[in-house]
Amino acid sequence: MARHLITSAIPYINGIKHLGNLVGSQLPADLFARFQRARGNEVLFLCATDEHGTPAELAAAKAGKPVDEYCAEMWAVQAEIAKGFRMSFDHFGRSSSEQNRKLTQHFAARLADQGLIKEVTDQQVYSITDGRFLPDRYIEGTCPNCGFDSARGDQCDNCTKQLDPVDLINPYSTISGSTDLEVRDTKHLYLRQSEMKDQLNEWISSKTDWPILTTSIAKKWLNDGDGLQDRGITRDLSWGVPVKRGDEDWPGMEGKVFYVWFDAPIEYIACAKEWADANDKPDAEWERWWRTDKGADDVRYTQFMGKDNVPFHTLSFPVTILGSGEPWKLVDYIKGLNYLNYDGGQFSTSRGRGVFMDQALAILPADYWRWWLLSHAPESNDSEFTWENFQASVNKDLADVLGNFVSRVTKFCRSKFGESVPDGGTWGAPEEALIAELTTRIRAYEMHMDAMEVRKSAAELRAIWAAGNEYLQVTAPWSTFKTDPDQAAAQIRMALNLIRLYSVLSAPFIPDAYASLMSAMQTSDDTWPDDVTAALGALSIGHNFTVPEVTFRKITDDERAEWETRFSGTRDE
Ligand code: 2FM
Ligand code: ZN
Repeated sequence: MARHLITSAIPYINGIKHLGNLVGSQLPADLFARFQRARGNEVLFLCATDEHGTPAELAAAKAGKPVDEYCAEMWAVQAEIAKGFRMSFDHFGRSSSEQNRKLTQHFAARLADQGLIKEVTDQQVYSITDGRFLPDRYIEGTCPNCGFDSARGDQCDNCTKQLDPVDLINPYSTISGSTDLEVRDTKHLYLRQSEMKDQLNEWISSKTDWPILTTSIAKKWLNDGDGLQDRGITRDLSWGVPVKRGDEDWPGMEGKVFYVWFDAPIEYIACAKEWADANDKPDAEWERWWRTDKGADDVRYTQFMGKDNVPFHTLSFPVTILGSGEPWKLVDYIKGLNYLNYDGGQFSTSRGRGVFMDQALAILPADYWRWWLLSHAPESNDSEFTWENFQASVNKDLADVLGNFVSRVTKFCRSKFGESVPDGGTWGAPEEALIAELTTRIRAYEMHMDAMEVRKSAAELRAIWAAGNEYLQVTAPWSTFKTDPDQAAAQIRMALNLIRLYSVLSAPFIPDAYASLMSAMQTSDDTWPDDVTAALGALSIGHNFTVPEVTFRKITDDERAEWETRFSGTRDE
């Protein structure tokens, strides 16, 4: 039995995510986790909310709530939506947890002990009225380039020029509106990433099996970008992990916190401890996933993330891990994904353009979305959501190919033989041909799923469903029945068993359909079809079933038109 540690990029706490975010990490991670469990492997699948930093502070201020309260509420909202999409996390943690605070402070101490941290004095804008340093986004003023009067400290939205807050004319604090600002010296900790360049290069070069998307991003930053410059890992904010050297105070760093991108990846580890603590398991239980000196050397660790996260996980986080000098597990495989666009443009959180996770579940059940998103996963390129494509794919793949198969077979059996697997007839050439085709296709499906080739897996699964329809086409039990009812019984026996087989194979993609089909077929036998012939005899003669409710309904043209208008970008923020 193999052991798989699987993590999905941890979503920011500041709002509900859109379908592009979902297919960019959580969904393919869940597909892989479900598949590995189905194969009998041991899986620890973790995700969490990313709660620190300016975006969380800003969102809380906008909601008029204290930031800790805001985060707790949004965590619950995100957890509920993840459940709605059937994310099978073993734990959905929080980067603001006690466990992450301790571990982040621990890593900082280790890095300092290894000589990888230096103290640097920076200059930053301080608001006397607000009594705090202002991050770039908390400062606005007139753009020195185009004269736009509410340019942000980091960039002018009007002319797109990148700015430094000290360049702004008449700058003011967006917290209080105060113009009583001054530039002050402030001390920060920098991680000496540049020291680790050779070690990282060697590590990344050894990953010859990684997707090109992942390694090309890593190498670009490593070799010709600014990626390995030393980077500041602390901020003058109050919301975050307080800067400490392990349990000790860090002189000169009072009142400062670690930068959100320093503590967020550490949450992948802390989340495992949160999982163990929440389930009253001893530390040894989570350490056997994360510490190579405590059993994790035979763990295969796979991370799923959008391409924007790749530099952090090929460079920054490995620096934290390797630099600590402790035997923490490094990632074995990074599945980086491209972006999903929305109907000729981008999803936009601020303009409410596109479908957000809560809205999606309000209009259709999870399986419909899971199927479309996964079968169109943005793997080798960005991909695009259009309502037309969504409607076509749901109506054809789910309703016509899979749903219709189930309904034809179960209804025909009920009307001619009753609601149990019928006796009579024998399997011959058509059945042998079907079994041969299914065997080839199922082996290919397993290979693609193991390789996390999401689209290829979906295509193979669709072909497996279609093979059932072709079998019905060729054997035509409704015609056979008129002349040879015994032989029709043998054909329907095959078809009923195909329903169970399809249900087991499809579960990682469409878990709700799996549950309802298994319940209709009155079986809990979810044995993986290593032997296809045996799998097609699982429901034996006399086994009872019921005709399921409609497995998948079609999307009408009216619905499609209505949704297209509703999600075009007018959502109130
Ligand atoms: O991009 C994001 O949504 C970040 N919150 C991801 C952090 S996860 C990881 F990459 F550390
Ligand atoms: Zn400007």
